[in-house]
Amino acid sequence: MYVDPQRNNEVRKLNLPAMQKTHHPVESAEVHDNEDKMDVDEEQVDQQPSEEATAENNEETSQSPDEQENGDENANQQQDNIENANQGQDSSENANQQQGNNESANQQQDNTENSNELQTNGEANGTEANKTAEDQAQTQNGQSNAKPQPAVTTKMLILGKKTSGKYGLKDFQILRTLGTGSFGRVHLIRSNHNGRFYALKVLKKQTIVKLKQVEHTNDERRMLSVVSHPFIIRMWGTFQDSKQIFMVMDYIEGGEIFTLLRKSKRFPNPVAKFYAAEICLALEYLHSLNIIYRDLKPENILLDKNGHVKLTDFGFAKFVPDVTYTLCGTPDYIAPEVVSTKPYNKSVDWWSFGILIYEMLAGHTPFYDSNTLKTYEKILSAPLKFPAFFHEDAKDILTKLINRDLTKRLGNLQDGSEDVKNHPWFSEVIWDKVLARYIETPYEPPIHQGQGDTSQFERYPEEEIDYGIECEDPYGFLFKDF
Ligand SMILES: Nc1ncnc2c1ncn2[C@@H]1O[C@H](COP(=O)(O)OP(=O)(O)OP(=O)(O)O)[C@@H](O)[C@H]1O
Ligand SMILES: [Mg+2]
Repeated sequence: MYVDPQRNNEVRKLNLPAMQKTHHPVESAEVHDNEDKMDVDEEQVDQQPSEEATAENNEETSQSPDEQENGDENANQQQDNIENANQGQDSSENANQQQGNNESANQQQDNTENSNELQTNGEANGTEANKTAEDQAQTQNGQSNAKPQPAVTTKMLILGKKTSGKYGLKDFQILRTLGTGSFGRVHLIRSNHNGRFYALKVLKKQTIVKLKQVEHTNDERRMLSVVSHPFIIRMWGTFQDSKQIFMVMDYIEGGEIFTLLRKSKRFPNPVAKFYAAEICLALEYLHSLNIIYRDLKPENILLDKNGHVKLTDFGFAKFVPDVTYTLCGTPDYIAPEVVSTKPYNKSVDWWSFGILIYEMLAGHTPFYDSNTLKTYEKILSAPLKFPAFFHEDAKDILTKLINRDLTKRLGNLQDGSEDVKNHPWFSEVIWDKVLARYIETPYEPPIHQGQGDTSQFERYPEEEIDYGIECEDPYGFLFKDF
């Protein structure tokens, strides 16, 4: 049996003594059945919208778990402030923003809350505080206001949007496990209201406390509650019982890029470029809100039913308008400034982005070592070596992303993400089309849509579920927003 050393969480994940992932190894390193689909031309990334790749086809079918299949149309019109502001950004998501009867009251409340927030923000002081985080990012980047931007305020980023109160265990049937992480477990679930499938991330309060992840977990909720982007997971709500906290998300059926990558050994240049382009836009969006992601790796990138990416796992995502210090991430992907505990900011995500592209092209990370301390040593000082088959443009962008000199690292320069997008490796990419999901995907996961098909996920031993039991809750006060 093929055992993947990089899947082993002792190697892959930092600083976590307990709750190691119990991922089953990929059975063999054989090429995936659908590999022929991945054998795409260089032009594929620059493709005009084909009949197959129309917006209609790519439209998400995401729907709120409490919305009945035939919701009241008037009620569906109700949108909250963030969602309204996002409409211009991604029209295919508009359809998904529809809300059911039950939600309209909450929505109205949200509207009031949001407008109060905006007002309060404006009143707080007349200068920086009344700008949205996006405004601030734009000013920093010297960008114009050409595109409608989500009205995510600094205050929303600090407090998050309200996510509790809408859902509870009674709303879902809990089905099989989709993944186990360092801190908990993600289940496939089915809504009792509309029969649709969702994913439920469950974290044990006691484990979170033991592993000192209280702040990270609250940040995860906060960040997921405000983000809205075609390549980022959507969270519908949160709740808790005496022992656990729960996050309801869309179920992304195509599985992890990690699994596909291990089955394929490595991706051809255009395939890696396609996934990198979509992830680049997700990072650009997060950074425009001053959110650092901090855990970029193939395990956290899922493929939707059409083969577009969805970034999941915001366990280390954080609103950082200036700098932070926390040592976190996954060893192979950690930037040198984090290893050496220097203050750092968004630039760490561009380093990890380089490692991700490298791993997709090579099939392994550049500083891999079975000994984590050696990995750190390599991150700090080993020369970056490339396999002979790497394209010249790929070597160039990787040299510029995986750059220890922060004043030279691509993505961290004056023009921020624009420099990454304008690099010759991405020269054929039409970014607006990528954002609109108009580019045909290189690989379509072989799944039966909307049926709770889990064929793309590894199997995990199921634990006995003790959710919903009322007992002493010594840590509840630490998670009051769930
Ligand atoms: N929305 C989703 N749809 C489908 N599968 C998902 C979803 N969210 C998570 N998963 C699966 O569950 C796994 C674990 O989830 P996640 O990464 O959020 O947990 P974690 O405990 O934070 O993990 P980590 O070990 O990276 O810290 C993912 O790698 C993925 O396989
Ligand atoms: Mg994860």
